[in-house]
Amino acid sequence: MYQFSWKQVVIFLLSIVLLSSCAERVPVGMGVTGKQGMVVTAHPEASRIGLMILKKGGNAMDAAVAVEFALAVCYPAAGNIAGGGFWVTRTSAGKVYTLDYREKAPMAASRDMFLGPDGEVARGLSSETILAAGVPGTVDGMLKAHEKFGSLPWNSVIQPAIDMARNGFRITKAQAISLNSIQTTILERNTTKPAFVNDSTWSEGDLLIQTDLANTLERIRDFRRDGFYAGQTAQYIVDQMKESGGLITLEDLAKYESVWREPIEGDYRNYHFYSMAPPSSGGVALKQLLGILSNWDVASMGHNTVESVHYMVEAEKRVYADRAEYLGDPAFTEIPVDKLTEPRYLIKRADEIQKERATPSDSVFYGKIVLKESLETTHYSIADQWGNAVSATTTLNGGYGCKIVVKGGGFFLNNEMDDFSSKPGSPNLYGLIGNEANAIAPEKRMLSCMTPTIITKDHKLFMVVGSPGGSTIITSVFQTVLNVIDHGMTMQQAVSAKRFHHQWLPDIIQYEPEAIDTVSVMRLTSMGQHLKKTGKIGRVDAILIWPNGTMEGGADPRGDDTAKGY
Ligand code: DON
Repeated sequence: MYQFSWKQVVIFLLSIVLLSSCAERVPVGMGVTGKQGMVVTAHPEASRIGLMILKKGGNAMDAAVAVEFALAVCYPAAGNIAGGGFWVTRTSAGKVYTLDYREKAPMAASRDMFLGPDGEVARGLSSETILAAGVPGTVDGMLKAHEKFGSLPWNSVIQPAIDMARNGFRITKAQAISLNSIQTTILERNTTKPAFVNDSTWSEGDLLIQTDLANTLERIRDFRRDGFYAGQTAQYIVDQMKESGGLITLEDLAKYESVWREPIEGDYRNYHFYSMAPPSSGGVALKQLLGILSNWDVASMGHNTVESVHYMVEAEKRVYADRAEYLGDPAFTEIPVDKLTEPRYLIKRADEIQKERATPSDSVFYGKIVLKESLETTHYSIADQWGNAVSATTTLNGGYGCKIVVKGGGFFLNNEMDDFSSKPGSPNLYGLIGNEANAIAPEKRMLSCMTPTIITKDHKLFMVVGSPGGSTIITSVFQTVLNVIDHGMTMQQAVSAKRFHHQWLPDIIQYEPEAIDTVSVMRLTSMGQHLKKTGKIGRVDAILIWPNGTMEGGADPRGDDTAKGY
């Protein structure tokens, strides 16, 4: 039996009463519900396509592949075919597989490639130029995922994205604002005018047609791997590299392989979680955070109170410090995952935390958080009627990657190389610092924070969760999990709840307006914490499976995110 909190039981019973009296009405506190399938993504069009695949009889994995390609069309800020990501998937038989389709450094990359003649990091080189582009992983990842789990033909899962690219889709208000903000930059960095540039300004409801991208997607449909990593598309990428001074070669593309990895797994209270192993730091960090927090009764502390914020933040400081020192690509660095996540070590870390006093982040490097850049990654969560689920996070890194569109190909290149540590102690776009473990090397994968996660209870699917948000991904997922397990929230409440974040350096608690009340801010300050109000933190899209099998989608109100179920 599930052990749901009394709050969840009350909300659930209430929702049954309301649902039976009025099938269309969504009960207070609950998100969109469904019995047979649920798709939650960052864009209504991608959610629509995912649901269509499920209704056609596809499984969660078919829907996820369709959604990944759909996002590459309708959400070009982060959805991609020239980026990368991570998939955590659970089959109806209860087995969990994780796929790493993270980008790699090109073979010609070198350790100090982003340093200027003065030995300092040359501003913007790792994020705003074509040198920022890693060798893309998404297409290989989707092919591998579909080969292993797909039940519908490849053509039918990619076709909806092709149609949307060719016929166009209506952009949302947020997208119009976002596209308008990058018009000048796109024109500066590209020699031809890509589909993303409008002669006047973009408005809500405008049709965005992407003919070059439709052609590229057709090549991927028809020639699979060779439709992207060889032939015409590969040639377009390499020509773009020549034109803009990039490093990726035909050989880099031919050599790219996504990798199946063992999940990071562990227990939190009566739940079991699976998340992503390095080269993402997400799984290790989440396991450390939950392990440290399991030493306290979080439920009795209350949501976003002085006590809960203090303990969570103190744990976050220690976990992000470990991340900076130890984590990187396992093919290049020995990562002490077991040591970092063993209960004894986490109890020791918990013991260091003082009840009434903040521990100052122990470093002279005060990394500067640069949140001016539009930061875009995207997460989607999908569950089907058979108990299959996919939790996937995919990205170009910054919004629209390096903002260079491959001429002829019609897609943005990523700027993932910025996730490497360009120089020990020098902050990246997210203010994260790193060390030797995450230094640049040819063919190495850059360290990620992406934390696609699946949680089970008594061997049954319980939650599918993840978020974008750079360094704040880990803490956004962490808070969402606690919101449900410890604070008894519904999925939608847990996703909507205001968030805060600490990443060790800089020594600041960033918090969304209203996440922490004024009196608590004053009290935390008197305890030695430094707080700073910030913009939105994370954009969680998640699914909760209630005891009777009802799937509740939690779509983040911070964006255009949409849950669709049936
Ligand atoms: O892999 C990472 O951790 C980053 N490249 C993710 C970037 C991101 O989440 C931007 N988002 N909103």
